Amino acid sequence: MLTYSEVEEVAGYIGNFTVKIRKKARYVDPDLCTACAECVKVCPVTKPDEFEMGLSSRKAIYIPFPQAVPCSYILNMDDCLGNNPIACGKCAEVCEPKAINYDDRDEIVTREVGAIIVAIGLDVYDPTEMDEYGYTRFDNVVTTMEFEWLICAGGPTAGHFVRPGDHQRPKRIGFIQCVGSRNPKIGRPYCSNICCMNTIKDTLLLADHYPDVENVVFYQDIRAFGKSFEDMFQRSKEAGTRYIRGLPGDIEEDPETRNLIITVENTTSGKLERHELEMVVLSVGVVPPKDLAKISGLLTLSKTSDGFLMESHPKLKPVDAPTRGVYFAGFCEAPKDIKDSVCQAGAAASRAGALLNAGQIQIEAITSRIDEAACMRCGLCAAVCPYGAITWKKSEPAVVIEAACAGCGACGATCQFGAITMRHFTDDQLVAQVRALLDFEPHDKIIVFACNWCSYAGGDMAGISRIQYPPTCRLIRTMCSARVSEELVLEAFRNGAPVVLVSGCHFADCHYINANRQTVKRVDRLWDQLEKAGVRPERLQLEWISAAEGQKFAKVMYQMEELRKTVTTEEIEHARQALQPKPKKKLRKKPVALAIDD
Ligand code: FES
Repeated sequence: MLTYSEVEEVAGYIGNFTVKIRKKARYVDPDLCTACAECVKVCPVTKPDEFEMGLSSRKAIYIPFPQAVPCSYILNMDDCLGNNPIACGKCAEVCEPKAINYDDRDEIVTREVGAIIVAIGLDVYDPTEMDEYGYTRFDNVVTTMEFEWLICAGGPTAGHFVRPGDHQRPKRIGFIQCVGSRNPKIGRPYCSNICCMNTIKDTLLLADHYPDVENVVFYQDIRAFGKSFEDMFQRSKEAGTRYIRGLPGDIEEDPETRNLIITVENTTSGKLERHELEMVVLSVGVVPPKDLAKISGLLTLSKTSDGFLMESHPKLKPVDAPTRGVYFAGFCEAPKDIKDSVCQAGAAASRAGALLNAGQIQIEAITSRIDEAACMRCGLCAAVCPYGAITWKKSEPAVVIEAACAGCGACGATCQFGAITMRHFTDDQLVAQVRALLDFEPHDKIIVFACNWCSYAGGDMAGISRIQYPPTCRLIRTMCSARVSEELVLEAFRNGAPVVLVSGCHFADCHYINANRQTVKRVDRLWDQLEKAGVRPERLQLEWISAAEGQKFAKVMYQMEELRKTVTTEEIEHARQALQPKPKKKLRKKPVALAIDD
């Protein structure tokens, strides 16, 4: 276990990852430190304790939190006065085991690993931007995390529950739900999953410890969906907590009593209610951890629209990352409670264990293959591969790491030199399909390139739901919309297609991390090209259709049919002529640097 460390770099692929880790300097040798706390007594620096939400203080030398592993001190050099030049050095003077080392430095360690589990936790929403609740203006408005510390026996008040404004015990407490959750206006449309039950737990705790306290909960929905949760909710109501369906617009403070005034529309009774409370707890939601962007970059992971990490498949592979050999546990994937986090952690550990014990792994046969002779060493394929599965050096042909290749086909569609073959979805196979579909009465056909995971499945969904759509649509399946090359689209127009539709998963839902970003870029380029050739760009359409959207699939097909009817025979003929391939210039291979052996 490497604690107080950060992953700096990850290279390799499933079963063969190389990870560089920065072990941060602790300035206290954990093997020598006996946690006697003599250093803390003499340290003159006092700082807010981050672990206790700034409600108490710590010294420059401290144990970050009670369960820290190892349970020894660290010295925060940003806070420490230091001893070089000597400004303090008191902790080193009193440390009998001589555990303090001001010259300690970060260390980079490298580890070879077969699997990686991402379990980086969460951050809590900061309600500062929701000024209407006065979090920064009123001392007696606190967040749920601060409330937890105020009521915790190990917290700054040793469990004596007082409000921060005047250190008096409050008698009327309000909880406001969904602060930073289910609020698209502030970019947080998702439910944080844990806040309702946390508030219910807090009201029961208060009712148990302080029966004279009145609790009021303002909510929009109570989501008590787990085992025994509804029972807890009922117990909270029976214990006297009042639940009011309606979220307050703002909070005002009475300057004399420092009580908080809330006006709220009770949507159950339809009446406007005014509440005077002595303390308000903002039930804040959770947000993706701030390190998530760095981790997703290191492991080539993608994020869903709410900012959490996207799993390989929401139902069939909920703990697998799209990058093989990487698994998720806990909040990094989506908000979830302790029970679900524990379940997911167990599942991730099992998946990783199964991989490490497998000896061999099976991969899909749909991978890319590089023709070394045709490769011009341009590196574009490596740049568009969402999995980092292609290695490339200027002096050598690109190489596909088949264990890492997921088979999206983005590389094959990008290569301008025909050097990449996508097994089972080769250019020849796809072109043959285009030609066959347009062989007879092409003006009556709409060519639809549909990705396997979403749009093609959306067509299936329309079919099994018996939703009608025009028979003029002809589907060609590719694994990802990113496999649809410019040449394939042009080939369809050259063969007389009046309309071509490229369709894939919704933007953040691509099965291959973010491969469909290449689709967007490519279709953009094609629209320009069509315009320059005098072909109506709208004859090429791009639509995102998910596997569940059978109705949308049918609706889009009807729209395509309407568009098809507007395309004249002259337009079709013009496109045939104008989009003929230009004779290619003979490309000269760049000189390849020779490896000089002895
Ligand atoms: Fe559907 Fe990539 S898998 S667009």
